[in-house]
Amino acid sequence: MKELPVIAQKDPYIVNVEEGKSYLWCSCGRSEKQPFCDSSHRGTEFKPVKYKAEADEEIYFCGCKNSGDQPLCDDTHLTL
Ligand code: FES
Ligand code: FES
Repeated sequence: MKELPVIAQKDPYIVNVEEGKSYLWCSCGRSEKQPFCDSSHRGTEFKPVKYKAEADEEIYFCGCKNSGDQPLCDDTHLTL
């Protein structure tokens, strides 16, 4: 059976990313360092999703972990 992610929050996390830098988004929802991975996914079937910033900008990372466009928010949280 497919494991369900923990809903860290039903809202995106807004983060200022830096061009060229890579980020590991937490897909399992268990990290204490949301929206990023702190390795708490160990023992689950989840793995972090890498995001490479192409510019210095504000990114809306999915907090509900149910987005269809991971690691970004696609407003799926509005339906949970
Ligand atoms: Fe959630 Fe790593 S802690 S994917
Ligand atoms: Fe997950 Fe918006 S926070 S889709």
